[in-house]
Amino acid sequence: MGGGTGTGKSYYRDHEVPMDASTLKIFHHVNNRVSERLLTWPKGVDFITTNESLESIVNALEPTAEDTVLAICGCGDQPFALAQTGARVHAVDYKKEQIAYAKRRARLAELGRHVDFLSVSRSAPGDANNLRYLANEERWRRIRANINKISFHHADIFKLPRSLHRTYTKIYLSNAITYSGRTPKDREIEQLIRVLQPNGLLYLAVKTDHIEFSAYARERLRVDVSLTYDARRTEKTWTPSVYRRV
Ligand SMILES: C[S@@+](CC[C@H](N)C(=O)[O-])C[C@H]1O[C@@H](n2cnc3c(N)ncnc32)[C@H](O)[C@@H]1O
Repeated sequence: MGGGTGTGKSYYRDHEVPMDASTLKIFHHVNNRVSERLLTWPKGVDFITTNESLESIVNALEPTAEDTVLAICGCGDQPFALAQTGARVHAVDYKKEQIAYAKRRARLAELGRHVDFLSVSRSAPGDANNLRYLANEERWRRIRANINKISFHHADIFKLPRSLHRTYTKIYLSNAITYSGRTPKDREIEQLIRVLQPNGLLYLAVKTDHIEFSAYARERLRVDVSLTYDARRTEKTWTPSVYRRV
């Protein structure tokens, strides 16, 4: 079965992802809308959609209303997904355009503009599973209900401003540790570990099994095998690891 119902090219094929009827409806709307938006890439924005599995991130970190999460912001999808069950999420990005973009999407969520919220972030094929994930009506209701739990900060996660110096129960680091723009120094990673509470979780989306952590980091972080397994089961692009703070 083909994807979109309109005249434009279909970017997401619905046979790839089983969906209930209401999710499918939203999915078709976005499919049609995306083709109109292909040429409107927002200026200065590097990521308009995530290339990581939202399902993996949420299943592995299992955020709850008791959590305070520090998260890389990127396009906003990850903080939106992490906040859906009421966790307080502090989303940081050192690119101000990413913060502005994610805030714009948060505003669309506040206004209840589901198709705009979804299609503003879609201009390339390849993330049909994430689109299905965010198109789900119940999840959209939860994201909207908790949108005010997310705060956005223009900051380097490895050089946190004073206002973000607190203890976090979970950290979503995406692939910031191996990000091409800047490799963090050992002491910067150690500072980040210091803000993670004992027994807290750290999610890393990397492409390798081997990260050269310093002795300090190795002493304090243990791979959580079961959560890492959960994350890798649904993540097909990255090789995520989930660490627990000792
Ligand atoms: C880590 S990148 C990679 C893309 C990611 N895999 C995704 O799917 O979105 C995501 C975002 O992290 C931001 N970023 C990278 N290193 C950072 C750092 N040290 N502090 C804050 N933001 C960072 C980039 O500006 C980008 O918007």
